[in-house]
Amino acid sequence: MRRPFIAGNWKMNLSRDDAQSLATELAAELSAAPDCDIAVCPPFVYLETVRTALGESCIALGAQNMYPQPSGAFTGETSPTMLLDLGCQYVILGHSERRHILGETDDQIFGKVTSAIAAGLKPIVCVGETLEERQSDQTASVIQQQFEGSISGLDESQFEKVTIAYEPVWAIGTGEVATPDQAEAVHADLRTLIQTRYNTQLADSVRIQYGGSVKPGNVTELMAQPNIDGALVGGASLAADSFLGIVRGALDH
Ligand code: PGA
Repeated sequence: MRRPFIAGNWKMNLSRDDAQSLATELAAELSAAPDCDIAVCPPFVYLETVRTALGESCIALGAQNMYPQPSGAFTGETSPTMLLDLGCQYVILGHSERRHILGETDDQIFGKVTSAIAAGLKPIVCVGETLEERQSDQTASVIQQQFEGSISGLDESQFEKVTIAYEPVWAIGTGEVATPDQAEAVHADLRTLIQTRYNTQLADSVRIQYGGSVKPGNVTELMAQPNIDGALVGGASLAADSFLGIVRGALDH
């Protein structure tokens, strides 16, 4: 049985006060651990504020990106050791906004994934096709290419630390969610890729989150699919009510 995993990706949103209030409210509601892993990923500059506000709650802290070197002359970048220093357990890598807006390549993402794992962080590695790729029937090949380029060079013991997030680009921030069948088909394909590259045991144990317009009203149906193990939530993670609704909905399925 894979333990559900709900993560909030706050992206470049909220003021420090808002981040602190949101984390405080979530921590108050989630002081006793539900049967699910929960993480929030605030902007770098609020990591410390949010860590303090989360206190002893069951909510883990994650970052949204990192640079794959421990230290050095890399102006403007943040290292895995710095993230650990601030209490991060997770880091989102290869998000489609970084792939498409910042031009990150599979190679660069793979470098970050290996470096995160070596430092002791657990990466959430995102893959997903654009609308154009889906419409031209390339979804499976794009997902395979991203899996091979940014993940499958890991050895087995490294791969155990990974969570994969399938996030169709056309569903991110658009209000248009993939149907449970569309999402399940890609999640099942990913599990087959893992089984082929590694083995059945790893394929059965890795968690694959769905991301793209997840809301309290659609999470239960998504999570009811056999290969969907959680959600990476953007917009709906910015308010306590909707994020908590998603956590409850995920546990309801
Ligand atoms: P969304 O974003 O929930 O706002 O669609 C998801 C994500 O980008 O991780």
